[in-house]
Amino acid sequence: MCGIVGYLGPLKAAPVLLSELKCLEYRGYDSAGVAVIEDGRLCVMKAAGKLSNLEEILVQKGPTARVGIGHTRWATHGVPNDTNAHPHIDSTGKIAVVHNGIIENFEELKTELIGLGYAFNSDTDSEVIAHLISYELSQGGEMLDVILRSLKRLVGAYALGIVSQEHPDRIYAVNHHYSLSVGLGQGESFLASDSMAVRQYTNRVVRLEQSEVAEITTQGVRLFNFDGLEVKRSPIAMDSSPYVIDKCGHKHFLLKEIHEQPLVLRQTLTKYLRHPNHPIDFSVGAYDPSLDDGSSENKMVGDGTAYGVHLTDEEIKGLNHINIFACGTAYHASMIGKLLIEELVGIPVAVDIASEIRGRKLLVNESTLAIACSQSGETADTLAALKEAKARGAYTMGITNRADSHLAQITPNLIVTECGIEVSVAATKTYLAQLASYYLLAIYLGEKRGTLPPEKAKALKMQLNAIPTMLEQILAREEQYKDISIKYADAHDVVFIGRGVNFPTALEGALKLKELSYIHASGYAAGELKHGPIAVLDQNVPVITVLVPGAVYEKTLSNAQEARARKAKMIVVAVDGDEQAARTFDSVLSIPPVEEILSPLTTIVPLQLLSYFISDYLGKDVDQPRNLAKSVTVE
Ligand code: F6R
Repeated sequence: MCGIVGYLGPLKAAPVLLSELKCLEYRGYDSAGVAVIEDGRLCVMKAAGKLSNLEEILVQKGPTARVGIGHTRWATHGVPNDTNAHPHIDSTGKIAVVHNGIIENFEELKTELIGLGYAFNSDTDSEVIAHLISYELSQGGEMLDVILRSLKRLVGAYALGIVSQEHPDRIYAVNHHYSLSVGLGQGESFLASDSMAVRQYTNRVVRLEQSEVAEITTQGVRLFNFDGLEVKRSPIAMDSSPYVIDKCGHKHFLLKEIHEQPLVLRQTLTKYLRHPNHPIDFSVGAYDPSLDDGSSENKMVGDGTAYGVHLTDEEIKGLNHINIFACGTAYHASMIGKLLIEELVGIPVAVDIASEIRGRKLLVNESTLAIACSQSGETADTLAALKEAKARGAYTMGITNRADSHLAQITPNLIVTECGIEVSVAATKTYLAQLASYYLLAIYLGEKRGTLPPEKAKALKMQLNAIPTMLEQILAREEQYKDISIKYADAHDVVFIGRGVNFPTALEGALKLKELSYIHASGYAAGELKHGPIAVLDQNVPVITVLVPGAVYEKTLSNAQEARARKAKMIVVAVDGDEQAARTFDSVLSIPPVEEILSPLTTIVPLQLLSYFISDYLGKDVDQPRNLAKSVTVE
């Protein structure tokens, strides 16, 4: 949430900052701004709303400065308007700060600084940092010392970019429990919350670790810890392919990403599952170019850092508990992960909404495997939960789409999903890849612990390999889904139901509809409907049932009948040839027949498309729904 960028070098800073910000707009699009040092004076330009509003201002004003910082905001403190947009400046107008995170003691600091005569303009917590630095500067000392003294007063987690009119030859950056990267070019340097944003200019990157300050000049970067001691770190070479933003002919990124799912699944399976007769191999480390299909969207964004699962067979056999932490869509994938691991491995698995770990007694120990599942690898709550589990002695593992994320830094065991960048804020292909990772992980653990007989493992792997083709068949039916979706676009409330492995599918279907169309939607375990939610049903409420032949088919159907008896509009995701479904429901989103245990990989796709078509039909902002950010870096 919130993106920070910076540039200093021979180019005009504003267009570079803008192009970096374009790569970070997924982190928030409530407002954007830049501060540059133009002819020796600090000059701030900012605008509420999307980055395009800032772009217009920059085009009009055409600053020629060669140094600056920029920000894209997801509002936490203060409404999204011009005043609350970053950068924030101090009272002298000489220091500008951009901030990602939350300053927990800002009220206290603000009162103190107001008492000292500092005047505040915004409602943000961030502005306090600019005034605090200004105050410390008035007490004397070099800029680095001034910043270090200021940091000692801040409570919270934050990343900062700082420029001062008095020091036009440098940018300061601070990382405290976030991610920040400095890109090193020839006589120029870049700063960004996400290394992807600097990759369009250079592939030599220095990552700030926790609680570090960077002094960035055109000649490079010096790093210091919060005690002011210099830290030496060599740049790493990232995959140099540029970050290409291209809808490839689709109307929206979301639709493109939904369509990429067969490829994503194939790539993830190819990577870890070489052949159905072979055990799953998670030891595979760096990006394997031989698996790339050549399109830049599908290239790994990683830097070649070794990852993989490095637990020994003894450690895996010694586990007696797994605890998964995740938020949102990743939480839904993890709920399915829990069912798979319990079914195939027989270890009890707890799955927690990561933000619910705070202030709670976390029951993990040295025999626990703690897993953080996070597309971005930056979700603050998910990272905090994993760190807490690690501190209590648990083994740790991450499932992420970003091999260069904060999550990758804090665990030695990492499964990287093969999605390429997901541009649309609503997660689709990364959900599918997280599911794929859980299938592979459950089989892997089952093979290692001997709970999964080889024949069953082989059959599952073969069935998994057949899913990408099924996904292609499903995507070929999108016009049929579109016609059905539009019929229900005027609904105000929609209920999704499912059982077993498809209860989380119902939750995920409801989440997609909410975030993309702003229609209120709730997902329920089908058997729970009669324990309360059924009260909301009438002829105006569509009920979408996920119904796949298997252990819970009949019971799910009975629950759907209960909804039908309340005159709800009945929609179903059902397999081809299901006569009973055709008789019971008003509309059928049909999919090819699939094994129940694997069905979450396919049942979600018609629901993603339903949400997409309704959102587009209603004229919503499909790729950047209101109030959301793709990377949720505040708790
Ligand atoms: C919904 C969505 C969010 C994320 C959640 C966790 O479409 O994308 O619910 O799943 O914010 O994000 P990550 O996976 O980055 O931790």
